[in-house]
Amino acid sequence: MENVNIPVHVAVIMDGNGRWAKKRLMPRSFGHNAGMNAMIAMARKAKAMGVKYLTVYALSTENLARPKEELDGLFNLIRKYFTKNVKDLYAEGAAVRVIGDMSALPQDVQQLIADGVKNSPAEAQFFVILALNYGARSEITRAVNAAISRGERVTEQTFSSYLDTKEFPDPDLIIRTGGELRLSNFLLWQAAYSELYFTDVLFPDFDEKQFEKAVKSYSGRNRRFGKV
Ligand code: IPE
Ligand code: IPE
Ligand code: MG
Repeated sequence: MENVNIPVHVAVIMDGNGRWAKKRLMPRSFGHNAGMNAMIAMARKAKAMGVKYLTVYALSTENLARPKEELDGLFNLIRKYFTKNVKDLYAEGAAVRVIGDMSALPQDVQQLIADGVKNSPAEAQFFVILALNYGARSEITRAVNAAISRGERVTEQTFSSYLDTKEFPDPDLIIRTGGELRLSNFLLWQAAYSELYFTDVLFPDFDEKQFEKAVKSYSGRNRRFGKV
């Protein structure tokens, strides 16, 4: 793709894994496995296109109420990502980060995540940011309490520095796969001026072509930020 305006930060609500599996008469975990492969391919594509930050909504605070069997499968995928897949990222000079409340995740998963972040290259050109047990309302509440405990009144700028996303610019483009037209508690503060892209494609089917299509849609838009 030439002459396109590439978003610096793309955030993706990776929805539709369960329905993708159901259509194949397979358990939901089969869909999550396929979704993980799609996520890895998407990160490679995003990096190749010149995106600098890719945030992926992998587990919401509300998702933690799903049946234990499904959650165990998701935790196993996170374990696999942080023991195996991150090495390929590092090799390409990319780093991994997380947003969300890690404290509710199993202890060993918390440790793997901490190591994965710590072992990332220092001078990364590309960041994969996993939203794990992430909910914007939880993030905002934690930020408010952190400011209160410091006895600080906040401005829009200083408030952002209390959020899990403090290291990253706001997303330029938010993509949601799977056909639902909602944000489901994702980046509510940061999405103030994000461009939104919705597609019916279920996440495991969201391939490089689909990602390119979303970026192309973004690049043709006129972002006014309230100005004339
Ligand atoms: C999104 O897919 C991935 C997670 C929430 C972990 P879903 O599991 O929500 O899939 P659908 O929406 O039921 O198809
Ligand atoms: C949003 O999908 C969360 C993730 C993709 C991780 P959900 O499937 O949980 O959202 P709802 O329930 O349809 O709003
Ligand atoms: Mg869903």
